[in-house]
Amino acid sequence: MKLGVLCSGGDSPGMNAAIRGAVLRGVDVHGFEMVGFMDGWRGFHEGDTVPLDRPAVRGISPLGGVMLGTSRVPPFPSRAGSREEWEAFAARFAEHGLDGLLLIGGNGTQTVAKMLADRGFPVVGLPKTIDNDLDGTDYTFGFDTAVSIASEAVDRLRTTGESHRRCMVLEVMGRDAGWIALHAGVAGGAQLVLIPEYPESIEQIAAWVAEVRDRGRSSLVVVAEGFRIAGHDSSAEPSEAVTRAGLDGFGRPRLGGIAEVLAPLIEELTGIETRATVLGHVQRGGSPTAFDRVLATRSGIAAADAALAGAWGTMAALQGNRIELIPLGDAVGRLKTVPHERYQEARLNFG
Ligand code: F6P
Repeated sequence: MKLGVLCSGGDSPGMNAAIRGAVLRGVDVHGFEMVGFMDGWRGFHEGDTVPLDRPAVRGISPLGGVMLGTSRVPPFPSRAGSREEWEAFAARFAEHGLDGLLLIGGNGTQTVAKMLADRGFPVVGLPKTIDNDLDGTDYTFGFDTAVSIASEAVDRLRTTGESHRRCMVLEVMGRDAGWIALHAGVAGGAQLVLIPEYPESIEQIAAWVAEVRDRGRSSLVVVAEGFRIAGHDSSAEPSEAVTRAGLDGFGRPRLGGIAEVLAPLIEELTGIETRATVLGHVQRGGSPTAFDRVLATRSGIAAADAALAGAWGTMAALQGNRIELIPLGDAVGRLKTVPHERYQEARLNFG
């Protein structure tokens, strides 16, 4: 059997360990020939490949990034794929002599995997994203690493913030789901955790920060990049301060990050000196945690086993302590967002 491996979407710590797990199981145990496509779908279309065998994956688990490269290039220029595009894709697939393809990626990639599986292509998905917002799996690899980096940032910001009696606002990644903010905030004992799922008004946020000050403490606010300030939909008249801060009609910043908008507003409404830090891509860089390496390795092994069994159209999902092969349809089509009871856990320090 000839098995391809392709990574798509943003990188996520643990991708190398996933490739290694799949290759060691696929090549050494099942006797597959394996090949990796460089830079996602670009490598597939341009025939830019590397052979994957034991020497190719030696020592890669602790490494950040991904040895094959990744990109957000879609498989088809048009979203759903025209008839001609599907035909060209099938011809490419045949040219590569593939009996199966492992797709390592997040929501977008697994949605593509399902589209391919629905058309009869032999694919298996491996879920990765630092955002942890993919449904059907308890955790995605990369998330634990991102959370540990963000938690360290919380700890560090706390000491400098308290020394100056300042409010510190830390922006972490998470456009649609607030998992990183939630976990980093709970781990670091943040006073406020603000996530896309639960908009709050600027007045409420300022009141919470003032209450913390009245209790003699400094606030540490963790905000996910996709957080929206409540009460600022397109029909509402935004307050003068909010307009000056450059928010759009949906309470999101027109330029820069949400932390850079929140900090001056908090300072203006509370009189507390406030500073913003945007953590950005630091969260995706560097060596994966042991948890992510183990999870990714197990996902790779399960995907190679799925290929051997012909269990196409599935994704290697973590459910409890087991890696289960679930239908791709159970993973895509909706995001795994933070449920209200989990948000409540982060509110222990509010007010
Ligand atoms: O999906 C992972 C993620 O890191 C998001 O948290 C973030 O919004 C986005 O990717 C950033 O994308 P890029 O690396 O393309 O700027």
